[in-house]
Amino acid sequence: MTEPADQTAFRGALGRFASGVTIVSTVLDGIDHAMTASAFTSVSLDPPRVLVCSKRTSRFHEAVLESGIWGVSILSDRGRAASAWFAHRGRPLEGQFDQIPHHRGALGVPLLDASLAWLECRTIGAHDSGTHTILVGEVTWAAVQDDDDDPLLYFRSHYGTIVRSPESEKTVYESGDV
Ligand SMILES: Cc1cc2nc3c(=O)[nH]c(=O)nc-3n(C[C@H](O)[C@H](O)[C@H](O)COP(=O)(O)O)c2cc1C
Repeated sequence: MTEPADQTAFRGALGRFASGVTIVSTVLDGIDHAMTASAFTSVSLDPPRVLVCSKRTSRFHEAVLESGIWGVSILSDRGRAASAWFAHRGRPLEGQFDQIPHHRGALGVPLLDASLAWLECRTIGAHDSGTHTILVGEVTWAAVQDDDDDPLLYFRSHYGTIVRSPESEKTVYESGDV
């Protein structure tokens, strides 16, 4: 059997994958739950599906498995402090949204104002995989906010945002480039 990769090298490699940052949220028995998550990916366009990987020991994990619904707030760079807050283990559950400007979607989940876009999902699959559960959601609602345009990014344990290329939004390949 093949040995698993060295933990330090594995974490180091993953940390070099720059990602956006989301807050995933749910509500269960009137209590809001949320967690900072960068392991978020689109899965299917039609039907619309996304996934998020949730640590099994997180409080969000238990709540979302029971509620079966979740929101995704794709953070703008104004969401930096909120990202740190919802990643802070041991923060009190009650009132954790009190200082965070937010609104509610059709499913009743809290969605952060400091976002570029929002999704609401119903869980259609929950797959155990090691320390995490891969939650697959059918997207029941999506919206974008055009006032904010700069994403919050995470890279090697640091926050940042993008630097736009002056030439073009898309890479143009010309012969002799490669
Ligand atoms: C930038 C960033 C991205 C994160 N991404 C994930 C993720 O995708 N999945 C996950 O389970 N935890 C992720 N975490 C860790 C959780 O946010 C953290 O464990 C959180 O405290 C869990 O909530 P709890 O304290 O209510 O259990 C991330 C943390 C940071 C700072």
